[in-house]
Amino acid sequence: MKRIGIIVGSLRGNSFNQMIANTIPELVDSAKYEYISIGNLPLYNADLDRGEGLDPVRHYREAIQKTDGILIVSPEYNSGIPGVLKNALDWASTPTKTAVLIHKPAGVIGATPGVKGTILSQQQIRQTLDATQSYVLPSQKMYISQVMEKIDSETRKLTDETTRKYLQRYVQSFIQWIDQVQRLSE
Ligand code: FNR
Repeated sequence: MKRIGIIVGSLRGNSFNQMIANTIPELVDSAKYEYISIGNLPLYNADLDRGEGLDPVRHYREAIQKTDGILIVSPEYNSGIPGVLKNALDWASTPTKTAVLIHKPAGVIGATPGVKGTILSQQQIRQTLDATQSYVLPSQKMYISQVMEKIDSETRKLTDETTRKYLQRYVQSFIQWIDQVQRLSE
């Protein structure tokens, strides 16, 4: 069974992106999931990024290290990547030669109450992941627009059937992608 880390790019208690992330395990139960929190990471500062380093950073990097791949589920802020997520990806991108994102399969998902599905932030997330030498699932995209109409605020899960099917297919493709990457690196 593949181990998938899920990183949510919103720290908000009622985050729609967190609700999308919460739905993934029930859509595809052929993988193990771990939610990797980013809210306790300090702001990136190279002066703090030395030796053993700070506990929250060490735990965060170890959590990513243990996964076969990471799924990022994130909102868009001001037509781009939320600062907290960029900060987290920067912490996972060092030390340069041994960073946990190097050759790590990654997928990108995003939800917004707006109509454009986080297209712009996903472009930036992909660009950042590319710089970290992660292997982002090519071609397929998972944009969720008008998310408020597609979730149940009681259960905090995605309920729209069509979107659930798309998300299920995306995660299944991501698992196949992990397999491909692992076979190529054997
Ligand atoms: C937003 N929002 C937003 N939405 C969008 O589709 N494109 C954008 O550029 C922005 N910009 C933006 C900036 C800032 C500072 C905030 C706080 C919000 C709206 C955003 O999609 C909405 O608040 C989501 O609910 C945030 O995601 P979570 O926290 O619900 O997961």
